[in-house]
Amino acid sequence: LSTTEVDISKIEPGQAIKSTFRKQPLFVRNLTPKEIAEADAVAVSSLRDPQSLDDRTKAGKKNWLITLGVCTHLGCVPLGAGEGENKGPFGGYFCPCHGSAYDTAGRIRSGPAPTNLVVPDYAFTSDTVVTIG
Ligand code: FES
Repeated sequence: LSTTEVDISKIEPGQAIKSTFRKQPLFVRNLTPKEIAEADAVAVSSLRDPQSLDDRTKAGKKNWLITLGVCTHLGCVPLGAGEGENKGPFGGYFCPCHGSAYDTAGRIRSGPAPTNLVVPDYAFTSDTVVTIG
């Protein structure tokens, strides 16, 4: 299966970009310290799909949240990756199809989606390049 290289050098803290991975939308987000703190403040056991931000990011690179941009309800592309877009009530991503709201760790927090946005396999191949897949 193919891999995708993403240049992350231009993604500022607080920004998310849309890319593609195996024909699916991919979100790459550079979390701010505040967004990391918001994610860490949530009791994991209270979540529908219990995962911490650490579970969903790489050690030492906790600011890089890399997920598929595919709502786990029925597969729409959530908003929030791109300037001025609606990040929803939990500050992460918002799916306009049926109102699923994801937090700054890409975890489902309200609406019909059953699970968190999927984190694909990936590795940092340099300080500025991530290889997905
Ligand atoms: Fe996203 Fe239904 S497809 S809420």
